[in-house]
Amino acid sequence: MIGSDCVGKDGKAVMKGNIILIGFMGTGKSTAGELLARKLGWVFADMDKRIEEEHGLSISRLFERDGEAAFRKLETEMLIRILGQSRQVIATGGGAVLAEENRTAMQRGGYVVALKADKATIIGRVSQDTGRPLLQGDLDARINQLLQARKSAYDFADLTIDTTGLTPGQIVDRIADRLRRMDLI
Ligand code: S3P
Repeated sequence: MIGSDCVGKDGKAVMKGNIILIGFMGTGKSTAGELLARKLGWVFADMDKRIEEEHGLSISRLFERDGEAAFRKLETEMLIRILGQSRQVIATGGGAVLAEENRTAMQRGGYVVALKADKATIIGRVSQDTGRPLLQGDLDARINQLLQARKSAYDFADLTIDTTGLTPGQIVDRIADRLRRMDLI
């Protein structure tokens, strides 16, 4: 699904768009994304970090101060702005897929890779981190609730990788292998 962003070069399709990582919190988007960008020599764009830098506030503080709906607006604005550039690996926030407008922009703006992981892995990866406003309170119950609500939210991806039991390096190798096999990088 790279479409018109592909041009032939030396018989190979060269991907000129972006690689967009989507997935639930704790599936490895930011860690693997940064590594993948380094491997490809592309820019790494972490949506949440960019929002935090631009507003000088953590995601938690933004949620607290303005509420989730306001954050979702900032998220859409940032996504559209980032997608104005190409040759980037973009780590999206776990809820960035909820708005149809965002899903459409992602599908147009690059190759969408969903990362998933089983619940125990997700809990292991997020339990030490207090920076996720949607996971405050009973962590297990919150994750169950959100996983259920977002059961199919990541299904629109071009490629899905299960990161359970994988190191960031292994996640990156799997993504790069798949893209290479399809002549996309
Ligand atoms: C959210 C995920 C977070 C962050 C915000 C909301 C979500 O990003 O955008 O806390 O709705 O799933 P990560 O997926 O990087 O944790």
